[in-house]
Amino acid sequence: MTNILEVQDLCKTYVVNKRQNNVLKNVNFSVDEGEMVAVMGPSGSGKSTLLYSVSGMDGITAGEVKFCGKSVSKMTQKDLAKLRLDEMGFIFQQMYMLKNLSVLDNILLPACQSDKIR
Ligand SMILES: Nc1ncnc2c1ncn2[C@@H]1O[C@H](COP(=O)(O)OP(=O)(O)O)[C@@H](O)[C@H]1O
Ligand SMILES: [Mg+2]
Repeated sequence: MTNILEVQDLCKTYVVNKRQNNVLKNVNFSVDEGEMVAVMGPSGSGKSTLLYSVSGMDGITAGEVKFCGKSVSKMTQKDLAKLRLDEMGFIFQQMYMLKNLSVLDNILLPACQSDKIR
């Protein structure tokens, strides 16, 4: 089976008002092609932080995230945008829609932008 996602010793620390919050501490897991994985935990335990970190939407403090063998933290913003557009799909908890566009235009917008990141 192909290894899609590999996470090694992932750490993510937020610093707010000089106070450190070590949200992810040496997280290790891998996901194979076709595998279904659910991330579960109480509110505030770091589920969203984990997903933002593995997608490259947010930087990581330490460790390694490999998507299809490529190191996510070494990718440029342009490469990351292309990766998310072509290889990943997200359904966010909150609506991140542009209010001045229709629902259809919100859906079409990433496709219109795609030529700018190729
Ligand atoms: N952008 C941020 N800046 C600072 N702290 C954050 C940020 N996002 C989340 N946190 C903190 O990280 C911890 C985990 O949050 P989060 O990943 O949203 O948890 P979950 O999705 O499991 O509810 C919480 O203590 C939260 O306050
Ligand atoms: Mg969350």
